[in-house]
Amino acid sequence: MSRPVDALIEFLESEQARGKSHVFLDDEAREGMRELYIRARKPIATPPSPAVEIASAPRPIAQTTKLIIDGSDKAAKLESVKRQAASWAPAHALGSLRETLVFASGNVDAKIMMIGEAPGYHEEKDIQPFVGPAGQKLNDILKAMGISRDEIYISSLVKFRPAIPKQTTNNRKPNPEEIASCLPLVLAEIDIVQPEIIIALGGTAAEGLLNLSGSLESMRGTWHQISNIPVRVTYHPSYLLQSSSNQVKRLLWEDMLAVMEKLGMTISEKQRGFFLPKA
Ligand code: URA
Repeated sequence: MSRPVDALIEFLESEQARGKSHVFLDDEAREGMRELYIRARKPIATPPSPAVEIASAPRPIAQTTKLIIDGSDKAAKLESVKRQAASWAPAHALGSLRETLVFASGNVDAKIMMIGEAPGYHEEKDIQPFVGPAGQKLNDILKAMGISRDEIYISSLVKFRPAIPKQTTNNRKPNPEEIASCLPLVLAEIDIVQPEIIIALGGTAAEGLLNLSGSLESMRGTWHQISNIPVRVTYHPSYLLQSSSNQVKRLLWEDMLAVMEKLGMTISEKQRGFFLPKA
């Protein structure tokens, strides 16, 4: 039986297929959404969703606990890490991460490696990192830098979408145990790709990779290091979805200018002036 929410999902999916990542909600639409949400939360006699099963029942499967990197080149080595990540016991044993592996994308010979926190709804659906609204912001940032997505390597600290009870399209940040469970995977990727620069996208990625704590503001604006590779910390692109202020955009952009300078890229006067207040 089709429910009102199915029509809404169908509409949103058709908008998404047309390339839209946002829809405007007026007060009436908001109220309608609220009602749908309340109705959807009322218990109904259906079997539990797979996400709830995943969240409450760790899978007793023969799984990988020790990484063995084989292969003669970067692509083969990464493929071997990816294969083992799919059955990575430390992550699955927690029972709080979903099943689909979202590993990484991009160029194995990249100079820049960008690392986010964990896949969300869109990333899990497409099995690709940064393809949802945050990914579109990331594309905008790369475009402003004059870099294409296939020139860089994009990965995440946590390789599975953090589950929430009664899973909706909402996402949550990974917790410290989830981060610790996947850390060997991303460290292996860094070791194999050997980028010239790593960009940690957001405080969660920075905390997990660099063992830092404190505000994002205290972590950015300086160079850190992992295995002798310089790391720049910046805002997660999804922060730009919440905060459209040019001040935040400028701060993120200054981090990107620092990266471009470090790589010896040509920077135009126009690029240097992006998001500065108009004189
Ligand atoms: N946020 C992340 O950190 N990674 C993604 O792939 C998407 C959103």
